Amino acid sequence: MYNFDLENIKREFQIELSKASSESDLFELKGKFIGKKRGLISELLEKIPSLSQEERKVFGKEVNLLKKFFESEISKSFDNIQKKKSSIPKMDLTLPGRNLFSGKIHPLSQVREEIEDIFISMGYTIASGPEIEDPYHNFEALNTPEDHPSRDIQDTFYLDVENMLLRTQTSPVQIRSMERKKAPIKLIAPGRVFRRDDDVSHSPMFFQVEGLVVDESITMADLKGTLLSFYRKLFRREVSIRFRASYFPFTEPSAETDLSCVICGGSGCSVCKRTGWLEVGGCGMVDPKVFEFVGIDPEKYTGFAFGLGIDRIAMIKFGIDNIKYFLENDIKFLEQF
Ligand code: DAH
Repeated sequence: MYNFDLENIKREFQIELSKASSESDLFELKGKFIGKKRGLISELLEKIPSLSQEERKVFGKEVNLLKKFFESEISKSFDNIQKKKSSIPKMDLTLPGRNLFSGKIHPLSQVREEIEDIFISMGYTIASGPEIEDPYHNFEALNTPEDHPSRDIQDTFYLDVENMLLRTQTSPVQIRSMERKKAPIKLIAPGRVFRRDDDVSHSPMFFQVEGLVVDESITMADLKGTLLSFYRKLFRREVSIRFRASYFPFTEPSAETDLSCVICGGSGCSVCKRTGWLEVGGCGMVDPKVFEFVGIDPEKYTGFAFGLGIDRIAMIKFGIDNIKYFLENDIKFLEQF
């Protein structure tokens, strides 16, 4: 009988196959075992002529089986290596880098912070009050009688609970601050307010800044001087302002403040509707009746108050024609500021 230990060769093959970890290892293995010229299988086949007829049949068959086994094992290992390679994510180093978006301060917050900084530099403190208010602070103590149009259900969001409402203005912070501190007072109160209003320049939720100064011998000239220097600082140019007689229940006299148009400088453009002026807020001298509500002596103290719309100022400052953009959270809009 022939004397070739095929089992041993098979075992050797399996040990080497288990160590082959790359394609080049496999090629080497392939050459060694089933290579046409110097492979082990070829060497075995070369021995055939030296065997007897009987042996040839058996041996030939076994060697062929072994060869098939080697071929299929090697091809399986090639497939495995290929699979491993394709599961590694491919990197294209020529691709442009990805943009990293950095967060920004919302334009309304930017304007609010700027307004706060200006008033702080003029000696004001920052006050705040609740957004859910009672009718006393939002209306009554501000000398706004029951039948006043701004108390109409049309304008105010009333809540189901205990006759409360969403404040329609920041003016109730005047009342709360005076109740607490009496006089002298010098504050601004920025905050969110709510009204049943909805068009390109009105939103059901918007932002105001209230201003209040109470002391002995405060005059309307102080009010005008304060607003003028505020607007010059805010717009960083020599704007002018004018007062137009108006009415607010909590100030007497009351005025609307107009700002010379910051776009055209007063000569008339589409933003100021050719008037040269932009309406920017209400103001006036604190009505003595309001002082009585909060227990401040109207004989001793006078005061001025004003209210600005932060959204309105931001629209003017950034040239935005629809108040809705501020609350839509559109990245393309917000990243411009
Ligand atoms: N609260 C007023 C409003 O929302 C704005 C206002 C006007 C505030 C005159 C004031 C003021 O303090 O004196 O329309």
